[in-house]
Amino acid sequence: MLIGVPLETAAGETRVAATPEAAKKLKAQGHQLFVQSGAGVAAAAPDAAYRAAGAEVVDAKAALGCDLVLKVRSPDPDELALMKRGATVVGMLNPFDREGLERLAAAGVTGFALEAAPRTTRAQSMDVLSSQANIAGYKAVIIAADRYQKFFPMLMTAAGTVKAARVVILGVGVAGLQAIATAKRLGAVIEASDVRPSVKEQVESLGAKFIDVPYETAEEKEAAEGVGGYARPMPESWLARQRAEVAKRVAAADVVISTALIPGRPAPKLVSAEMVQSMKPGSVVVDLAAANGGNCALTVPGQIVQAHGVTIVGETNLPALVAADASALYARNVLDFLKLVLPKDATSVNVPMDDDIVAACLMTQDGQVKRS
Ligand code: NAI
Repeated sequence: MLIGVPLETAAGETRVAATPEAAKKLKAQGHQLFVQSGAGVAAAAPDAAYRAAGAEVVDAKAALGCDLVLKVRSPDPDELALMKRGATVVGMLNPFDREGLERLAAAGVTGFALEAAPRTTRAQSMDVLSSQANIAGYKAVIIAADRYQKFFPMLMTAAGTVKAARVVILGVGVAGLQAIATAKRLGAVIEASDVRPSVKEQVESLGAKFIDVPYETAEEKEAAEGVGGYARPMPESWLARQRAEVAKRVAAADVVISTALIPGRPAPKLVSAEMVQSMKPGSVVVDLAAANGGNCALTVPGQIVQAHGVTIVGETNLPALVAADASALYARNVLDFLKLVLPKDATSVNVPMDDDIVAACLMTQDGQVKRS
């Protein structure tokens, strides 16, 4: 089968959907690879590496004109115009972007959105949300350490003692856990908050302190259980108590890393302008929820701003700042998904709807939006 790997065109997107390693594996499975010239350059994979892996290096038209197109981001209208009716695209198509999905359907493209895979053991190896959030959590701490004008670890030197940085993590999913682990390795003192009670143990096992906000009503307890492992919006009564606890920690913090998300909704606002004002000058907020509106009221998506002497980082695509590893992990997620729809030596993409992962990821087929 002819598989295309175009150069991503979204602003700031540096990742590539198939690394030379992935191209080599697909080639060994009997497929022909058309990789757009420059597709992997920003992820440390030059054209020569793809050629060495057995791929052909082509232009955008040839890469997007394949039967199966591997993408990071959903194809934009210009890219769609170069795709064939009846082609298949696998990527992060954003299941909540109804307009984008309708565009795909109208172009007659079968679309699989990998973000929609269920959070099950079998789907773990193709879980792009986890592979990319893990990277975002790591990079958020590295950016915070870079922007912060003090040490992270406690140091006793001949010139005096330096106190350890206090880091507060809001939202402890995949990104939050990695942020805790990374900040811990740098020697920070860490506190973390989440709505889901199951997180407490994970936070403590990483050597951080959980900010406990007990549930006072059955409604609060039920909401906190979430759905499918994801958080649901919490009742205002609990959020108000959480705000009070978080406000105290934020005022004492040197760094706040916020990652709180609720699928398909704007990010919950957890850090108010007043809380930022209460922080010490030189403190840093890294808001991983910036692309979804931000957890901090003063976040400007896509920008690094200063407010009340605090640096607020609103970077919207942190995995793209670790392009080589983000691409390597993403490409492995894609390869594992392809095993479900593209058996060895297949000449067309199968859509086995009795497979719960395939059914969940299928967004568009036969000109129709299947789900969003
Ligand atoms: P996410 O990116 O959707 O959200 C990040 C975190 O924000 C979550 O922990 C969520 O509970 C929290 N949050 C939401 N509202 C909040 C608020 N008001 N205050 C504080 N925190 C708030 O989450 P992610 O990283 O995608 O993980 C979701 C779940 O999926 C987790 O339970 C994770 O353990 C689970 N998971 C399961 C996998 C599997 O079984 N294969 C693989 C990966 C994740």
